[in-house]
Amino acid sequence: MSARIILVWCYVFVLCCANKTLKFPDGFRFGVATAAYQVEGGWNASGKGENIWDRLTHSYPDLITDHSTGDVACDSYDLWNTDIKLLKYLNVDYYRFSLSWSRLLPSGFATHVNPDGVRYYNNLIDGLLSNGIAPVVTLYHWDLPQPLQDLGGWTNPLIADYFEDFARVAFGLFGDRVKAWITINEPASICVGTYENGEGAPAYVESPGIGLYLCGKTILLAHAKAYRLYDNEFRHTQYGIVGITIDSIWAEPKTNSTVDVIAAEREMQFGLGWWANPIFSASGDYPEIMKVRIAENSKRENFTKSRLPALNPSEVKLIQGTFDFFGLNHYHTWLIADHEYQYNRSSYQKDKGTLGTQNPDWKPTPEIVPWGFRKLLNWVKTQYNNPLVVVTENGFGDAGGLKDRNRVIFLYGFMKALLLSILEDNCNVKGYTVWSIMDNMEWRSGFTVKFGLFDVNFTDPRRQRTPKASAEFYRHVIQTRVLPEK
Ligand SMILES: *[C@@H]1O[C@H](CO)[C@@H](O)[C@H](O)[C@H]1NC(C)=O
Ligand SMILES: *[C@@H]1O[C@H](CO)[C@@H](O)[C@H](O)[C@H]1NC(C)=O
Ligand SMILES: *[C@@H]1O[C@H](CO)[C@@H](O)[C@H](O)[C@H]1NC(C)=O
Ligand SMILES: *[C@@H]1O[C@H](CO)[C@@H](O)[C@H](O)[C@H]1NC(C)=O
Ligand SMILES: *[C@@H]1O[C@H](CO)[C@@H](O)[C@H](O)[C@H]1NC(C)=O
Ligand SMILES: *[C@@H]1O[C@H](CO)[C@@H](O)[C@H](O)[C@H]1NC(C)=O
Repeated sequence: MSARIILVWCYVFVLCCANKTLKFPDGFRFGVATAAYQVEGGWNASGKGENIWDRLTHSYPDLITDHSTGDVACDSYDLWNTDIKLLKYLNVDYYRFSLSWSRLLPSGFATHVNPDGVRYYNNLIDGLLSNGIAPVVTLYHWDLPQPLQDLGGWTNPLIADYFEDFARVAFGLFGDRVKAWITINEPASICVGTYENGEGAPAYVESPGIGLYLCGKTILLAHAKAYRLYDNEFRHTQYGIVGITIDSIWAEPKTNSTVDVIAAEREMQFGLGWWANPIFSASGDYPEIMKVRIAENSKRENFTKSRLPALNPSEVKLIQGTFDFFGLNHYHTWLIADHEYQYNRSSYQKDKGTLGTQNPDWKPTPEIVPWGFRKLLNWVKTQYNNPLVVVTENGFGDAGGLKDRNRVIFLYGFMKALLLSILEDNCNVKGYTVWSIMDNMEWRSGFTVKFGLFDVNFTDPRRQRTPKASAEFYRHVIQTRVLPEK
């Protein structure tokens, strides 16, 4: 071989291979996310109605770790323009935020639209667009109007219709400029958190083994109705995309025993498949294993029919295929073992028949398990015929501070796992969203757990925002589209 040919080969190697695993593909998009209740504040500003988090934090302060509320939070209601400057600093492609249903429709019903809510979101959307940042809008991120909760919340099937009305108002008002919509954020967190373990709002209704499945059916129908509505009335003029955001752990079998391997798969089907199978699978409907186990347990518990409300054939059809993308939120990996619960009362845990633990030896903390993320992305690819996935949340919670080394380690590890899932496993992932741009009101944990790339001084009336080390790191990745060598 001539020296010249060797030289050419070296050149080709450097071009093709040296940076290959660490470079994001063309067209890959980076963003950050928030949710209305966690950042906006302005809880009673100019006609806004009360939602379930307002009610919970005001009436049951003991249920919030630091007795705080979201009354002011990051004050993004007043400081939206400052938020846009932070987004611009990071140079994100898009900003994922949610609409406060009660700010737009104070009673929850589409009978009266609050002009101040329209003004607020118009300002935010127009401000983003004039800075070259695409708005990605979540319709529902956990803040149900209180009047709808008083009617049973998501356990009442009619809420799906009221959600559709809300979606029509939102598409109609903002769809000329918003081209990516997420109907509902984390259905499992909503239904399990509200009706099974009371971790969400309102924390005072628990109906183990029952409420969560009623909630689940309503959520699936609400999502499907909003998607079909977009198809029928808006898509032909607005040309946007609509999806749902599903949260999932990665369930790693605790041992290689057959029962644990099966239990881990069952955990995935009960957690993620519950939502994804009806929407994304070729068969539609709930996963078979859920139908079988819940029916068996219900019978044993003397129910006359399954606690899992069936989807009839027309409902299966309504829900199936209602996606333009798969929104995926991911934080943690758990080790899953088979476990038989002996108690007689109904519960989701008993229906699942699994027990989860984390490995204290995972370094640097048991929360940082990037390989689990890669396995999750591959599971979604295999189960649902490699849909277009947008990671709509991923992030790390700590006690705060500007030198957030573990958050940088987390983001590096998870972005690398994501990149390898694209480059080596052919997963169809097109976007990555960090939760969150700034520290905010972390639900029942109040302000004790921080997820932000920016620190927020919550004792400062101006809610001063300051970039952490992780903000500089993410900014650099977005700028170069490459994960730096470690
Ligand atoms: C890898 O990519 C970075 C950023 O694009 C570039 O600065 C560096 O020179 C590349 N390294 C090689 C070996 O190609
Ligand atoms: C809004 O709530 C605050 C407390 O967060 C209260 O001081 C204020 O009076 C309320 N404003 C209106 C208009 O009700
Ligand atoms: C299960 O088997 C795989 C492949 O042999 C191995 O990599 C893994 O460590 C085993 N897991 C456990 C928990 O023993
Ligand atoms: C179901 O009903 C049978 C017959 O009345 C009774 O023996 C059994 O204890 C009941 N099971 C539960 C879980 O209550
Ligand atoms: C569960 O119900 C069965 C049937 O009624 C009864 O024999 C058993 O003792 C109960 N177990 C517990 C843990 O209550
Ligand atoms: C937060 O704001 C308060 C009030 O303005 C100020 O006294 C304090 O020094 C600030 N904290 C930090 C860490 O900047």
